[in-house]
Amino acid sequence: MNFRLKVWRQKNPKTKGKLVQYEATNVSPNTSFLEMLDVVNEGLVAKGEEPIAFDSDCREGICGTCSLTINGEAHGPDHPGAACEVYMRRFKDGATIVVEPFRAKPFPLIKDLVVDRSALDRIVQAGGFVAARAGSAPEANSIPIPKHHADRAMEAAACIGCGACAAACPNASAMLFTAAKVSHLAFLPQGQPERTSRVLK
Ligand code: SF4
Ligand code: FES
Repeated sequence: MNFRLKVWRQKNPKTKGKLVQYEATNVSPNTSFLEMLDVVNEGLVAKGEEPIAFDSDCREGICGTCSLTINGEAHGPDHPGAACEVYMRRFKDGATIVVEPFRAKPFPLIKDLVVDRSALDRIVQAGGFVAARAGSAPEANSIPIPKHHADRAMEAAACIGCGACAAACPNASAMLFTAAKVSHLAFLPQGQPERTSRVLK
């Protein structure tokens, strides 16, 4: 498969950015979006050009690091799923794909496609934790928890802190993220002592 990429390039927050065109050729349909960017970067490095800066870590949809806007959608066309879980077979051969950073005021741009998502860390620091010393993991059945509470807590804990909800929201609101962090603690007995004070901080 062949693609024309229009990628946001910006040296740093102080310089002006712009979309730069690159060709991605002979791409296997089973290549992930980030692997495709890796190959484009290898070509840029071989030509002595600066590679495209983008964030990633787990590349399996669990760390929330790969904050890309693909064709105007936070994380791209595969819902629900992170940018690292998008495969090139999802696009038409010959398509033009626009790749930008997350566009949200709380996520200031660092370079190219990399943004600073530490605003989410500040939300967790404000109350998304249990203050009691938890020690090491206890025996699983030592605190009985009703199954439906555990299930609901697990659903909220599935938030990977990627920030796509803020990037997709016209107001750049992170309320989905905040609600997930508050809820996963509120559904479990360990989160109960600080339940009422947590959201007031
Ligand atoms: S709630 Fe927001 S931060 Fe959490 S996984 Fe969903 S989009 Fe990402
Ligand atoms: S790189 Fe971890 S979720 Fe995409």
